[in-house]
Amino acid sequence: MTTPLIPPSTKPSRGSIACVGMGMTLGSHLTPLSRSHIEQADVVFAGLSDGIVEIWLKRMNDDVRSLQPYYKEGKSRLQTYRQWVDLMMDEVRAGKRVCGVFYGHPGIFAWSPHKVIEVARAEGFDAHMEPGVSAEDCLYADLGIDPGRFGCQHFEASQLLLFERRIDPTGYLVLWQVGLVGDQSLARFQTGSAYRQVLVDLLAEDYPLDHEIIVYRAATLPIEKPRVIRVALRDLPEVKMTAEETVVVPPVSTPKPNLAIRARLDALDKQHAQGEIA
Ligand SMILES: C[S@@+](CC[C@H](N)C(=O)[O-])C[C@H]1O[C@@H](n2cnc3c(N)ncnc32)[C@H](O)[C@@H]1O
Repeated sequence: MTTPLIPPSTKPSRGSIACVGMGMTLGSHLTPLSRSHIEQADVVFAGLSDGIVEIWLKRMNDDVRSLQPYYKEGKSRLQTYRQWVDLMMDEVRAGKRVCGVFYGHPGIFAWSPHKVIEVARAEGFDAHMEPGVSAEDCLYADLGIDPGRFGCQHFEASQLLLFERRIDPTGYLVLWQVGLVGDQSLARFQTGSAYRQVLVDLLAEDYPLDHEIIVYRAATLPIEKPRVIRVALRDLPEVKMTAEETVVVPPVSTPKPNLAIRARLDALDKQHAQGEIA
């Protein structure tokens, strides 16, 4: 028997909440600290999209409650996420040690974990977020992308359409939730190719239509391989898309040197060489 990283409950009089991430690939991404939070919790809430993962979770804790049934086509996801927060907080207020388990990283494109921690802290309870391996982490590894090389912007795809954002085509652009891009109701599970065409039209302001983009799905089971589809930007509407794809738009041009700043830095270097500045 291994020593738990989180000390076993000594019947806390106050409730607490820990939101942890399962990572993306079943069985291989869960960190020892996240596992310890799951094992030591009085009640575990599972915000996971996969029944197999829930079964696996039940081997670590007897009281695992699925948050999945609260989703419904036609019901606003925000309403669902508020319900999740209420369910978790009810148990925290009842003095329980609660663990919310979410796939990937619990704080990346995930509203409820951030909210429940905010609410719990405001009410004086202990609240903690434990990072996990996100789709973003897998993407860098599987596609061989270093976000530090050219820089990397991340957008929720609908947000990119609904607001006037500035895309930098000299760096990577990573688009999340493209499978439901343009859904203004927050109540659909998917949108069709006509919606993705709007995204293509917007991106065409910064990229040529034959620019190669990547539709990426990380492996969620150890027996799977990542799915990597490379297509021309113009063909994005025709790619079969689920709720689990992330789209990567590689840089199309090189950044322009900033001559004014370089001149300023050169002047500072001279002053530094003469011992005038640190
Ligand atoms: C609600 S967000 C959750 C992200 C998750 N918390 C994480 O850390 O990766 C859902 C979006 O994550 C991305 N995603 C989910 N599963 C994925 C997978 N298997 N491969 C690539 N991206 C994925 C997609 O962009 C999807 O629309």
